[in-house]
Amino acid sequence: MADLPRHPFLQGLSKHRGAPPTVVVIFGASGDLTARKLIPAVYNLSVDGLLPADFFLVGYGRKVIADEEFRTLAKEAVKEFSRRELSEAAWARIAACTSYVAGGYDEPAAYTRLAQRIAELEKNLGREVQTLFYISTPPSVFAPILQNLGAAGLAGKYLGQAHHAKVIIEKPFGHDLASAVELNNTIRSVFAEHQVYRIDHYLGKETVQDLLVQRFANAIFEPLWNRNFIASVQITVAEEVGVGTRGGYYEQSGCLRDMIQNHAMQLVALTAMEPPGSYDAEAIRDEKVKVLKAIQPLNPAAGGDVARAQYAAGMIGGKPVPGYLEEAGIAPESGTETYAAIRLAINNWRWQGVPFYVRSGKRMARRVSEIAINFKRAPGTLFAESGGFNLAANTLSFQIQPDEGLSLILNTKIPGLETRTQPVKMSFRYATTFGSNTPEAYERLVLDAMIGDGTLFIRGDEAETSWKLYTPVLEAWAAAGRDGLDSYVAGSWGPATGDALLARNGQVWRQP
Ligand SMILES: NC(=O)c1ccc[n+]([C@@H]2O[C@H](COP(=O)([O-])OP(=O)(O)OC[C@H]3O[C@@H](n4cnc5c(N)ncnc54)[C@H](OP(=O)(O)O)[C@@H]3O)[C@@H](O)[C@H]2O)c1
Repeated sequence: MADLPRHPFLQGLSKHRGAPPTVVVIFGASGDLTARKLIPAVYNLSVDGLLPADFFLVGYGRKVIADEEFRTLAKEAVKEFSRRELSEAAWARIAACTSYVAGGYDEPAAYTRLAQRIAELEKNLGREVQTLFYISTPPSVFAPILQNLGAAGLAGKYLGQAHHAKVIIEKPFGHDLASAVELNNTIRSVFAEHQVYRIDHYLGKETVQDLLVQRFANAIFEPLWNRNFIASVQITVAEEVGVGTRGGYYEQSGCLRDMIQNHAMQLVALTAMEPPGSYDAEAIRDEKVKVLKAIQPLNPAAGGDVARAQYAAGMIGGKPVPGYLEEAGIAPESGTETYAAIRLAINNWRWQGVPFYVRSGKRMARRVSEIAINFKRAPGTLFAESGGFNLAANTLSFQIQPDEGLSLILNTKIPGLETRTQPVKMSFRYATTFGSNTPEAYERLVLDAMIGDGTLFIRGDEAETSWKLYTPVLEAWAAAGRDGLDSYVAGSWGPATGDALLARNGQVWRQP
């Protein structure tokens, strides 16, 4: 397939980072994530010339699927889900190196067959290849897969060499602190930490990575990035969708586990961390863990640091939608939160006294994820609201999705013979400047794992630190059941208790 024309702003930028010869083995290869994200990611990396010349894809799962059938399924997945249209020539390159091994996740003989398949590929190629195991199954089988990879000798393959075996582990990474520690222990009994890539696909998003560039490649932000100039930080991860057909899963999860403990805390860490000494995975992850550890324990009591609620029936996009309790698969008296808001206090030199507010919910007014940095107001010596001027506090916001970009609210004089003021928004949009066909998060993450760059993955201690913060809240909520559970109308910006969390500090949620 011919290369797509490059946007003028992208020309001249280096696009090649080399991965060694690799076999990617996907566990759960007949599943939804494989079709929706992983196969299209491999396809697009191939089209972009970013896969190593010697690349192989092996699907693994309990379903008995012939190689040819798996290739057909994979091709259909590209047709349906790839950001680029399928080109037969580009697909042929992937098809030629794709196969499937059927086996149970706790069936040792099947791992021997998998090892034989990898050995055959190496023999035909005449050289060693690194193996990247992608565990894309429900979490109930993460542990047996890890243990069997260890027992079959696949985890320690080429350890000590650059092309050692690697493993990507999908979310959710545990459901509380104890289960996250247990999973880490299982991982560590088989793999060394540098072989492990824990996914949080938020880290693969362009805007999330750009947060580091904006903070540390521009001289104007760092002097202001502290308690002297910033009044508060607000992070919103709002969805318009309800639970849909995933009611059974969501009942076990809830908003805090599904969105806040992982994705939103990544945004908190990247916004609040100290500048790392280098652009290196360990230096960045050290700073993230350090700032997460500086967060004070949360008070889950009413009037404390947290709010939770469930959506009631309402309107989305002009259409009526049911409340959470009316959705399929939801217990009639369910206490599962579909909205959570948290006030975080970071007890370090930079942030003491600056609240970080985090909220997430389903069936909110609009699908939007953003980080808003609210600066303190300018002294009202010349222009003040009490003097009739229309003014706003400066707000810098990183919009993570949709319409990825950056905006800054500034106060401006309205042209005319009188001095009147108005806040205006200065915006930058990725799609306008760089074109809209940007790689998906999974493309970046699969490529980074092949290369061995762990910057955009969660380290074991990072996952545990976040769970340590939220587990007492989850336990308090489980004990309280529906007591203290607020509700909000579907299509709104959330419940009154979420607003009250800010009102206690004289603040309001920004309308993203
Ligand atoms: N789907 C998404 O958009 C998405 C997004 C973010 C994260 N994830 C995470 O990615 C992982 C995979 O998600 P998915 O949606 O692809 O899952 P899935 O479709 O439910 O399952 C993937 C595969 O795992 C096997 N499997 C299913 N249930 C199993 C069970 N109870 N025990 C053992 N094997 C089972 C099945 O293959 P066989 O029957 O052939 O073994 C299935 O095709 C999960 O950890 C999920 O949380 C998914």
